[in-house]
Amino acid sequence: MRASLLLLVPLGLTLAQRPASKPGRFLSLPNAQKCASRPKEFFFQGHNYFYSAHVPQLRNTRVDWLDARNYCREYCMDLVSIETQQENNLVYKLIRDNDVPYIWTSGRLCDFKGCEGRRDLEPKSIYGWFWSANRVKMSPTDRTPAGFNFNPWSQTGHKKLRQPDNAEFEINGTNESCLSVLNNVYNDGIAWHDVACYHEKPFICEDSEELLNYIASTNPGIRL
Ligand SMILES: *[C@@H]1O[C@H](CO)[C@@H](O)[C@H](O)[C@H]1NC(C)=O
Ligand SMILES: *[C@@H]1O[C@H](CO)[C@@H](O)[C@H](O)[C@H]1NC(C)=O
Repeated sequence: MRASLLLLVPLGLTLAQRPASKPGRFLSLPNAQKCASRPKEFFFQGHNYFYSAHVPQLRNTRVDWLDARNYCREYCMDLVSIETQQENNLVYKLIRDNDVPYIWTSGRLCDFKGCEGRRDLEPKSIYGWFWSANRVKMSPTDRTPAGFNFNPWSQTGHKKLRQPDNAEFEINGTNESCLSVLNNVYNDGIAWHDVACYHEKPFICEDSEELLNYIASTNPGIRL
């Protein structure tokens, strides 16, 4: 079942806005012109998607998780949210067909300000994950998610434990709060891993209805 995290994650559009950059650390507003000409690599259930390295200006762009969100958001998109196995298949196919080593998704652990005191998110490693693009809560990480017939979280990782394992915390105290799909990094095929958000990776963007609606409503007649 999907439960909204609306109460605890503020709407991007209501946050103070700054351009995508390291010191700002805010979500970016969409750019109408970029939204209208956004890259459309494949289409699924009403949404367009693209892989960053397939866009000439982004070919060599590898960025941390928040900057990746912001690149997408300028196009009225956000990092991909993978709510069904069909959608997961499309992401895995893109990764496999293009020999992509890893990508960022919008998956995020609710371990920041606003997530405290939520008994329903404990333990965090099982119940604390959500898709930040649409604030949809994920299924518990230790079982097959709704809409899937297998558990896409890897069965292994740095510590040879099933994911998420927050492995980097033991290495240098950095929490693994972001969800990356890795391509066989641990000899485990293509699978979901929790990864520290500062790592720099290419990414997959997916249309954001919220941002498209915002640009449509503030730019009468625009074709998106
Ligand atoms: C980081 O992970 C550790 C170990 O799981 C945990 O005790 C700590 O609360 C986490 N930090 C944050 C900010 O969630
Ligand atoms: C943790 O370790 C990694 C790899 O050694 C390093 O790149 C990163 O900067 C470290 N993070 C912190 C917060 O020290």
